[in-house]
Amino acid sequence: MLYIKNLNAFYDDIQALRNVSLHVKEGEIVALIGNNGAGKSTILNCISRIITSVNGSMFFRDQDMSDLKYNKAVDLGIVHVPEGRCIFPDLSVWDNLLLGSYSKREKLSTCKKNINKIFEMLPLLRKKKDQAGGTLSGGEQQILAIGRGLMAQPEIMLLDEPSMGLAPIFINDVFGILKQLKEQGKTILIVEQNAQKALEIADRAYVIETGSIILEGDTDELKTNQEIKRAYLGKGYSEIWD
Ligand SMILES: Nc1ncnc2c1ncn2[C@@H]1O[C@H](COP(=O)(O)OP(=O)(O)OP(=O)(O)O)[C@@H](O)[C@H]1O
Ligand SMILES: [Mg+2]
Repeated sequence: MLYIKNLNAFYDDIQALRNVSLHVKEGEIVALIGNNGAGKSTILNCISRIITSVNGSMFFRDQDMSDLKYNKAVDLGIVHVPEGRCIFPDLSVWDNLLLGSYSKREKLSTCKKNINKIFEMLPLLRKKKDQAGGTLSGGEQQILAIGRGLMAQPEIMLLDEPSMGLAPIFINDVFGILKQLKEQGKTILIVEQNAQKALEIADRAYVIETGSIILEGDTDELKTNQEIKRAYLGKGYSEIWD
Protein backbone atom coordinates (compact mmCIF):
# COMPACT_ATOMS: atom_id res chain seq x y z
CA MET A 1 0.00 0.00 0.00
CA LEU A 2 2.77 2.40 0.98
CA TYR A 3 6.22 2.08 -0.54
CA ILE A 4 9.18 4.32 0.31
CA LYS A 5 12.62 3.96 -1.18
CA ASN A 6 15.78 5.92 -0.32
CA LEU A 7 13.97 8.82 1.29
CA ASN A 8 16.11 11.77 2.36
CA ALA A 9 14.54 14.68 4.25
CA PHE A 10 15.92 18.04 5.17
CA TYR A 11 15.25 20.89 7.58
CA ASP A 12 17.02 23.70 5.72
CA ASP A 13 20.56 22.37 5.41
CA ILE A 14 20.19 19.75 8.15
CA GLN A 15 19.56 16.24 6.85
CA ALA A 16 17.08 14.47 9.16
CA LEU A 17 16.54 11.25 7.17
CA ARG A 18 19.08 9.24 5.20
CA ASN A 19 18.08 6.65 2.63
CA VAL A 20 15.02 5.47 4.52
CA SER A 21 13.26 2.58 2.77
CA LEU A 22 10.13 1.02 4.16
CA HIS A 23 6.80 -0.39 3.11
CA VAL A 24 3.43 -1.09 4.64
CA LYS A 25 1.06 -3.71 3.22
CA GLU A 26 -2.70 -3.46 3.37
CA GLY A 27 -4.04 -4.65 6.74
CA GLU A 28 -0.63 -4.56 8.42
CA ILE A 29 0.38 -2.77 11.57
CA VAL A 30 3.95 -1.59 11.21
CA ALA A 31 5.87 0.06 14.05
CA LEU A 32 8.69 2.56 13.88
CA ILE A 33 10.73 2.52 17.03
CA GLY A 34 13.70 4.63 18.05
CA ASN A 35 14.95 7.12 20.59
CA ASN A 36 14.25 10.84 20.84
CA GLY A 37 15.35 12.74 17.77
CA ALA A 38 15.84 9.59 15.68
CA GLY A 39 13.58 10.86 12.89
CA LYS A 40 10.35 8.95 13.54
CA SER A 41 8.00 11.94 13.36
CA THR A 42 9.91 13.22 10.35
CA ILE A 43 9.07 10.00 8.49
CA LEU A 44 5.36 10.40 9.27
CA ASN A 45 5.50 14.09 8.32
CA CYS A 46 7.03 13.14 4.96
CA ILE A 47 4.28 10.58 4.31
CA SER A 48 1.48 13.03 5.14
CA ARG A 49 3.34 15.64 3.05
CA ILE A 50 3.76 18.14 5.89
CA ILE A 51 7.47 18.03 5.00
CA THR A 52 8.12 18.31 1.29
CA SER A 53 11.84 19.05 1.33
CA VAL A 54 12.61 15.47 0.42
CA ASN A 55 14.06 13.29 -2.29
CA GLY A 56 13.61 9.59 -2.98
CA SER A 57 10.52 7.62 -4.03
CA MET A 58 7.21 7.50 -2.21
CA PHE A 59 4.24 5.66 -3.62
CA PHE A 60 0.81 5.22 -2.12
CA ARG A 61 -0.91 2.38 -3.94
CA ASP A 62 0.14 3.22 -7.51
CA GLN A 63 0.28 6.94 -7.01
CA ASP A 64 3.64 8.73 -7.04
CA MET A 65 3.55 11.07 -4.04
CA SER A 66 6.49 13.27 -5.09
CA ASP A 67 4.41 16.27 -6.10
CA LEU A 68 1.46 15.67 -3.83
CA LYS A 69 0.26 18.68 -1.81
CA TYR A 70 -0.29 18.02 1.90
CA ASN A 71 -4.02 18.63 1.68
CA LYS A 72 -4.22 15.96 -1.05
CA ALA A 73 -2.59 13.25 1.05
CA VAL A 74 -5.69 13.09 3.23
CA ASP A 75 -7.86 12.80 0.12
CA LEU A 76 -5.90 9.65 -0.76
CA GLY A 77 -6.77 8.26 2.68
CA ILE A 78 -3.50 9.07 4.46
CA VAL A 79 -4.59 10.24 7.89
CA HIS A 80 -2.07 11.51 10.41
CA VAL A 81 -2.77 11.50 14.16
CA PRO A 82 0.08 13.76 15.22
CA GLU A 83 2.45 13.74 18.16
CA GLY A 84 0.87 15.80 20.95
CA ARG A 85 -2.66 15.08 19.64
CA CYS A 86 -3.39 18.66 18.44
CA ILE A 87 -6.96 18.70 19.71
CA PHE A 88 -8.81 21.98 19.16
CA PRO A 89 -9.02 22.97 22.84
CA ASP A 90 -12.00 25.34 22.68
CA LEU A 91 -14.15 23.09 20.51
CA SER A 92 -16.33 20.36 21.97
CA VAL A 93 -15.52 16.68 21.53
CA TRP A 94 -18.38 16.52 19.01
CA ASP A 95 -16.98 19.43 16.96
CA ASN A 96 -13.45 18.00 17.06
CA LEU A 97 -14.88 14.77 15.61
CA LEU A 98 -16.90 16.67 13.03
CA LEU A 99 -13.77 18.49 11.86
CA GLY A 100 -12.13 15.12 11.31
CA SER A 101 -14.55 14.53 8.47
CA TYR A 102 -13.90 17.92 6.84
CA SER A 103 -11.86 16.43 4.00
CA LYS A 104 -14.73 14.09 3.04
CA ARG A 105 -17.13 16.97 2.34
CA GLU A 106 -20.08 14.85 3.35
CA LYS A 107 -23.60 15.88 4.35
CA LEU A 108 -24.07 16.70 8.02
CA SER A 109 -26.50 13.76 8.37
CA THR A 110 -23.75 11.34 7.13
CA CYS A 111 -21.22 12.93 9.50
CA LYS A 112 -23.62 12.46 12.40
CA LYS A 113 -24.04 8.77 11.54
CA ASN A 114 -20.26 8.39 11.41
CA ILE A 115 -19.83 10.14 14.76
CA ASN A 116 -22.33 7.68 16.24
CA LYS A 117 -20.26 4.79 14.86
CA ILE A 118 -17.18 6.30 16.55
CA PHE A 119 -19.19 6.56 19.79
CA GLU A 120 -20.00 2.85 19.58
CA MET A 121 -16.33 2.03 19.36
CA LEU A 122 -15.12 4.72 21.77
CA PRO A 123 -17.99 5.13 24.27
CA LEU A 124 -16.00 7.51 26.45
CA LEU A 125 -16.35 10.13 23.71
CA ARG A 126 -20.15 9.91 23.81
CA LYS A 127 -20.07 10.62 27.55
CA LYS A 128 -17.84 13.64 26.98
CA LYS A 129 -19.35 14.85 23.70
CA ASP A 130 -20.20 18.38 24.91
CA GLN A 131 -16.98 18.89 26.87
CA ALA A 132 -14.31 21.24 25.47
CA GLY A 133 -11.43 19.22 23.97
CA GLY A 134 -8.85 21.15 26.01
CA THR A 135 -10.47 20.10 29.29
CA LEU A 136 -10.11 16.36 28.59
CA SER A 137 -7.32 14.44 30.28
CA GLY A 138 -4.28 13.49 28.21
CA GLY A 139 -5.57 9.94 27.70
CA GLU A 140 -9.03 11.16 26.75
CA GLN A 141 -7.48 13.60 24.28
CA GLN A 142 -5.54 10.74 22.69
CA ILE A 143 -8.73 8.74 22.27
CA LEU A 144 -10.38 11.83 20.76
CA ALA A 145 -7.43 12.28 18.37
CA ILE A 146 -7.83 8.66 17.20
CA GLY A 147 -11.60 9.17 16.83
CA ARG A 148 -11.05 12.35 14.83
CA GLY A 149 -8.60 10.49 12.60
CA LEU A 150 -11.14 7.71 12.03
CA MET A 151 -13.72 10.32 10.95
CA ALA A 152 -11.52 10.97 7.91
CA GLN A 153 -12.04 7.29 6.93
CA PRO A 154 -8.35 6.42 6.65
CA GLU A 155 -6.90 3.94 4.20
CA ILE A 156 -3.77 4.15 6.33
CA MET A 157 -3.47 5.75 9.73
CA LEU A 158 -0.18 7.32 10.82
CA LEU A 159 -0.07 7.36 14.62
CA ASP A 160 2.66 9.35 16.32
CA GLU A 161 3.43 8.30 19.91
CA PRO A 162 -0.14 7.54 21.01
CA SER A 163 1.03 6.44 24.46
CA MET A 164 3.24 9.46 25.16
CA GLY A 165 2.75 10.88 28.65
CA LEU A 166 -0.13 8.57 29.54
CA ALA A 167 -0.69 6.62 32.75
CA PRO A 168 -0.48 2.82 32.32
CA ILE A 169 -4.27 2.40 32.43
CA PHE A 170 -4.70 4.79 29.50
CA ILE A 171 -1.80 3.20 27.63
CA ASN A 172 -3.72 -0.08 27.88
CA ASP A 173 -6.92 1.62 26.71
CA VAL A 174 -5.18 3.15 23.70
CA PHE A 175 -3.52 -0.12 22.71
CA GLY A 176 -6.86 -1.89 23.25
CA ILE A 177 -8.38 0.47 20.67
CA LEU A 178 -5.49 -0.23 18.27
CA LYS A 179 -6.11 -3.94 18.73
CA GLN A 180 -9.74 -3.44 17.72
CA LEU A 181 -8.63 -1.47 14.65
CA LYS A 182 -6.27 -4.29 13.76
CA GLU A 183 -9.10 -6.82 14.04
CA GLN A 184 -11.13 -4.62 11.66
CA GLY A 185 -8.27 -4.93 9.16
CA LYS A 186 -7.14 -1.31 9.34
CA THR A 187 -3.66 -0.43 8.10
CA ILE A 188 -1.54 1.47 10.62
CA LEU A 189 1.97 2.87 10.75
CA ILE A 190 2.69 3.60 14.39
CA VAL A 191 5.61 5.49 15.93
CA GLU A 192 6.32 4.55 19.52
CA GLN A 193 8.97 4.95 22.15
CA ASN A 194 7.11 2.33 24.15
CA ALA A 195 8.78 -0.41 22.12
CA GLN A 196 7.32 -3.22 24.21
CA LYS A 197 3.73 -2.17 23.53
CA ALA A 198 4.45 -1.42 19.88
CA LEU A 199 6.07 -4.81 19.29
CA GLU A 200 3.14 -6.55 20.99
CA ILE A 201 0.65 -5.13 18.52
CA ALA A 202 2.61 -4.74 15.29
CA ASP A 203 3.22 -7.34 12.57
CA ARG A 204 6.56 -5.84 11.55
CA ALA A 205 8.82 -3.07 12.82
CA TYR A 206 11.66 -0.82 11.74
CA VAL A 207 14.25 0.54 14.14
CA ILE A 208 15.49 4.02 13.35
CA GLU A 209 18.62 5.67 14.69
CA THR A 210 19.86 9.15 13.76
CA GLY A 211 17.82 9.31 10.58
CA SER A 212 18.58 5.82 9.24
CA ILE A 213 16.85 2.48 9.52
CA ILE A 214 19.25 0.15 11.27
CA LEU A 215 17.07 -2.93 11.66
CA GLU A 216 13.79 -4.30 10.35
CA GLY A 217 11.82 -7.50 10.61
CA ASP A 218 8.83 -9.39 11.93
CA THR A 219 8.07 -8.39 15.49
CA ASP A 220 8.45 -11.97 16.72
CA GLU A 221 12.05 -11.94 15.48
CA LEU A 222 12.79 -8.46 16.80
CA LYS A 223 11.51 -9.28 20.27
CA THR A 224 14.23 -11.89 20.63
CA ASN A 225 16.97 -9.69 19.18
CA GLN A 226 19.56 -9.02 21.90
CA GLU A 227 20.34 -5.53 20.63
CA ILE A 228 16.65 -4.54 20.67
CA LYS A 229 16.25 -5.96 24.16
CA ARG A 230 19.25 -4.03 25.40
CA ALA A 231 18.54 -0.70 23.71
CA TYR A 232 14.77 -0.43 23.66
CA LEU A 233 13.14 -2.90 25.98
CA GLY A 234 15.15 -2.63 29.16
CA LYS A 235 15.59 -5.05 32.00
CA GLY A 236 12.67 -7.28 32.83
CA TYR A 237 11.00 -7.45 29.43
CA SER A 238 13.21 -10.29 28.31
CA GLU A 239 11.70 -12.47 31.04
CA ILE A 240 8.21 -11.79 29.67
CA TRP A 241 9.16 -13.00 26.23
CA ASP A 242 11.76 -15.65 26.94
N1 LIG B 1 11.38 21.87 12.34
C1 LIG B 1 12.61 21.40 12.51
N2 LIG B 1 13.69 22.16 12.22
C2 LIG B 1 14.96 21.68 12.36
N3 LIG B 1 15.25 20.43 12.80
C3 LIG B 1 14.21 19.64 13.11
C4 LIG B 1 12.84 20.07 12.98
N4 LIG B 1 12.02 19.07 13.37
C5 LIG B 1 12.85 18.06 13.73
N5 LIG B 1 14.14 18.40 13.58
C6 LIG B 1 15.33 17.56 13.85
O1 LIG B 1 15.21 16.38 13.07
C7 LIG B 1 15.64 15.24 13.84
C8 LIG B 1 14.52 14.20 13.88
O2 LIG B 1 13.42 14.75 14.61
P1 LIG B 1 12.05 13.96 14.80
O3 LIG B 1 11.09 14.92 15.40
O4 LIG B 1 11.69 13.31 13.55
O5 LIG B 1 12.49 12.84 15.86
P2 LIG B 1 11.60 11.76 16.64
O6 LIG B 1 12.25 10.45 16.38
O7 LIG B 1 10.19 11.92 16.29
O8 LIG B 1 11.87 12.16 18.16
P3 LIG B 1 10.88 12.14 19.44
O9 LIG B 1 10.84 10.73 19.91
O10 LIG B 1 11.58 13.02 20.42
O11 LIG B 1 9.55 12.66 19.02
C9 LIG B 1 16.03 15.77 15.22
O12 LIG B 1 17.42 15.93 15.24
C10 LIG B 1 15.33 17.11 15.30
O13 LIG B 1 16.06 18.01 16.10
MG1 LIG C 1 8.53 12.50 17.35
